[in-house]
Amino acid sequence: MARTWTSGSEVKRVAVDGGAMLYDASRVGNLRAEWFDPAYWRKRDAVTGEAPGRGATVFFATNGHEYALRHYRRGGLIARLSSDRYLWRGEGAARPVAEWHLTYHLAHAGLPVAPPVAARYERHGIVYRGDLITERLAGTMSLAAALELGSVPILTWVDIGRCLRRFHDLGVCHADLNAHNILLGAGGMVHLIDFDRATLRRPGLWRDANLVRLRRSLDKVTDSLPPGRATEADWHSLLAGYREGPPANDAPPAAGSVSGAQAAD
Ligand SMILES: Nc1ncnc2c1ncn2[C@@H]1O[C@H](COP(=O)(O)OP(=O)(O)O)[C@@H](O)[C@H]1O
Ligand SMILES: [Mg+2]
Repeated sequence: MARTWTSGSEVKRVAVDGGAMLYDASRVGNLRAEWFDPAYWRKRDAVTGEAPGRGATVFFATNGHEYALRHYRRGGLIARLSSDRYLWRGEGAARPVAEWHLTYHLAHAGLPVAPPVAARYERHGIVYRGDLITERLAGTMSLAAALELGSVPILTWVDIGRCLRRFHDLGVCHADLNAHNILLGAGGMVHLIDFDRATLRRPGLWRDANLVRLRRSLDKVTDSLPPGRATEADWHSLLAGYREGPPANDAPPAAGSVSGAQAAD
């Protein structure tokens, strides 16, 4: 069931052809539907790059800011049947809307996420398509990309563990915790992105399942790379950081205190 979220007056909801868009007016004033169209930015020579992978994320720059625009696309076999259409189950359950709300609340709780800017869905009968715009985390590289270049310092592994613990302490179950969704910044800053299908939950075994998924992803990413890129010692450093949690002066609000949301079982 879709969760009910509360948000500030800066969050605008505007109806668009067959759907709606949400945006944070404190980050962008008067956002228009063209913002979700990569061709619009290409025409203006505003595209600054494309994310590796599915090719569904483009970066663009406007008014001195850089943004990441992601079109929701399916992976795996089902993509052959329908690459970007999802079954309509109401606005609150639409992927871009759900991800937008969760990320908005995480950003407000001070967690290291890419600040959400806008979300849109377009409904066609029983299906919809969706898009999400976040601020681009400049100067970052995914953990997967960093491992392709070389080994990652032990302290960074500890910081990744600490970062994951902050999210878990708030009850955030990431549906796809992998080495592509962890972004590393220049100063050792760790961000988590891609909260598609993420949920807020009470403590449980899902935390271990999240970590196991990450471990599998690291094995997959480093499989074809020279040895020493994600070693047992690195993994133990990550787990040590996770066990320790964030430093006292960096502590997140108490569990379950993400304003406007109730943790589910
Ligand atoms: N806000 C952002 N800042 C910087 N890079 C981003 C941002 N959002 C996405 N990316 C890059 O795009 C890739 C894909 O985006 P993501 O949101 O994980 O979508 P998906 O996994 O569905 O393709 C990420 O692995 C990352 O490299
Ligand atoms: Mg991703």
